[in-house]
Amino acid sequence: MSDLQAAAKKAVGEHVASMISSGMTLGVGTGSTAAMAIEALGHRIREEGLQVKGVATSFAAERLARQHGIQLSTLDETPDLDLAFDGADEVDPAFVLIKGRGAAQTREKIVASRARQFIVLVDESKIVDELGHRMPLPVEVVPMAVTPVMQVLHALGATVEIRMGMKKDGPVVSDQGMWIVDAMFNGISNPEHVNDMLLKTPGVVDHGLFIGLATTVLVGRSDGSVQVLDRPTA
Ligand code: 5RP
Repeated sequence: MSDLQAAAKKAVGEHVASMISSGMTLGVGTGSTAAMAIEALGHRIREEGLQVKGVATSFAAERLARQHGIQLSTLDETPDLDLAFDGADEVDPAFVLIKGRGAAQTREKIVASRARQFIVLVDESKIVDELGHRMPLPVEVVPMAVTPVMQVLHALGATVEIRMGMKKDGPVVSDQGMWIVDAMFNGISNPEHVNDMLLKTPGVVDHGLFIGLATTVLVGRSDGSVQVLDRPTA
């Protein structure tokens, strides 16, 4: 990550941390931008004694939140969240997202769906006119179904590959024990159709298209400023 990108991520992390008040229940996102928000929130907890409860979207987020003094909860205990924050890989003009570079999209979507406000934290490079030209769509799959699911994705026009581990032989294994198939489309012109096709395919656990969930997008700029975009009305 360049220094300029790090400054933009820090700016949105600090901005969302400033939107949080004592007593709030939170969804705690995964990735380098969400990490900036966790760090900024940890700072407020230490300095101001802010009391919050967070539901983490991954093992990674859970560990980081704990390190920064965020009290952790579960959806069993705290099924309704005031605010969730998370990064994204791409954001389109209708606030549809691609997420899942960190393979956490299934838990991220569950947590986002329980939040009254879902705040997406990005830098300018993530804003696109149409999804799926630059980033693959991650699809979480039950391992025995990987070939049939790849056939479905192929029929939808994607080039597919199983995500492989780093410093581990074989596929990436998600926090749920599943595999991730990365589907590279030549643009996703109809995200709802891709969503419907995937969700009716046996063996697909979930995928990284987030439709109708984001309420606000915070766009960080390298000069440290933040643009606040609210969901366009339909
Ligand atoms: C993890 C995610 C991340 O939030 C997304 O990939 C953005 O990551 P970063 O903030 O590091 O660019 O969806 O599954």
